[in-house]
Amino acid sequence: LADNAVDVERLLASPMTTARPPAFPMPAFLYPVDHGLQRRNSTGADLAVIADRAPLDAAVAATVVPVIREATTEEVITQMVRLDDGFAAWSERPVAERAAIIRRAGDMLDARLAEFCGLLVKEAHKTLGDCVAEVREAVDFCRYYADQAQIRLQDQVLPGPTGESNELRMTGRGVFVCISPWNFPLAIFAGQVVAALVAGNTVAAKPAEQTPAVAARMVELLYEAGVPKDALALLHGPGETIGASLTANLHCSGVCFTGSTQVAKIIQRTLAHKDGPIVPFIAETGGLNAMIVDSSALPEQVVDAVVQSAFRSAGQRCSALRLLVVHGSIADGVIEMVRGALAELNVGDPARLSTDVGPVIDDEAHANVSRNVARLKKEAKLLGEAKTASTFPRLVPPVAFELGAIADLKEEIFGPVLHVVRWNGDVDQVMHDINELGYGLTLGIQTRIDSRAQRLAKLAKVGNVYINRNIIGAVVGVQPFGGEGLSGTGPKAGGPNYLLRFCAEQTLTINT
Ligand code: SER
Repeated sequence: LADNAVDVERLLASPMTTARPPAFPMPAFLYPVDHGLQRRNSTGADLAVIADRAPLDAAVAATVVPVIREATTEEVITQMVRLDDGFAAWSERPVAERAAIIRRAGDMLDARLAEFCGLLVKEAHKTLGDCVAEVREAVDFCRYYADQAQIRLQDQVLPGPTGESNELRMTGRGVFVCISPWNFPLAIFAGQVVAALVAGNTVAAKPAEQTPAVAARMVELLYEAGVPKDALALLHGPGETIGASLTANLHCSGVCFTGSTQVAKIIQRTLAHKDGPIVPFIAETGGLNAMIVDSSALPEQVVDAVVQSAFRSAGQRCSALRLLVVHGSIADGVIEMVRGALAELNVGDPARLSTDVGPVIDDEAHANVSRNVARLKKEAKLLGEAKTASTFPRLVPPVAFELGAIADLKEEIFGPVLHVVRWNGDVDQVMHDINELGYGLTLGIQTRIDSRAQRLAKLAKVGNVYINRNIIGAVVGVQPFGGEGLSGTGPKAGGPNYLLRFCAEQTLTINT
């Protein structure tokens, strides 16, 4: 324990702190999440739920991804007027009615898991394990926000000394523009849309250009579940034209965006300059997410967490691990094990259950990640790289490099690329250097010293801290997700306060 000799005695006297907190009853809406390794493949995909392969295989084989027509900027204008007109009727529906519709959509999605997995594999090229997890997350969003709407969006009578009747009412704001990314084309798309709808807004939804078909199928399902046509419109097309027209539109009463930091800033500027009301902006962007490992950490646990966090989903998660900061005294051993794990990864066709890491989303992403890997091979020390014999297009074998200092990490590479830095000396300085990167989404801490974990969590300027585990896959309702700084404006998707961000509050005072 070269980095914390003073804590040695306490550590030796205390039990290991890798255990989970005491179990509590799981909310009824949640799919169970098993963190045990025995039921997962190397990147943590939950194999138990896909034990019955036949319906999934059949759905994948039968799936033909439909071509979805792009909207025009004229249609944006027409649809925004229509949604603005539809707002009164939808927002006046009782919360319980809106919640029932969203809950029904969740149940319908649950029943159509195989069909949506087929579409996700074929359109977004996600591995089967990731697809199952994503459909389950989308179902959780529907059920959770429906429940939360009924709990949090009730009118409140506020008794007090004024001698009047005072009431606080929650209402929708108007037309919410929801702009979602391709890496979770169902879960994030559905999460944004149903949150905005159940809160009483009408919604103009623009999915990523790469994944319009998943979104289109989800919108059909929402209509089928009972969402009125005048409350929801899908406007597919490029961010530069369709996204820009939506956010600049006079009727846009709020924006919920998940995507890059750069685009978030463009939207923020647009909202600042547009005519009409000042509107709320919910942004969740990227991260330069780190994991700090001290000399008391369990190397096997660290390596399992690193592999899942850095390489699962081909590193295409905003929560993914980009920077492993490991104490010098155990760094060689951990790096050796990461190298071994990289050699074991199965990189290939996402529709095969045995695949750990599938392709990146498109040719542009492939070129960008490959260019960065080639650059790092010149500028940094190569620690290990996965191999593949697969000819599936757009594969990037996961790879790890060593950098000299935390500050050498300049930009988020949205792919399976891990950077490793050794640390010695003051761990608070390590946390300071990570904070200086300016992002603030996820952080991992691997230590068996409780006081250290708690102190680092307090110093960390991030939205989600994970201790002694991986740093991806936040669970709806119990691990509210969202970052600060360059990583977003802070609201937590899947958390109890999220719906309030989509609402206006009105205080009604009656002189009785
Ligand atoms: N919510 C996802 C995760 O936690 C990322 O968007 O990995």
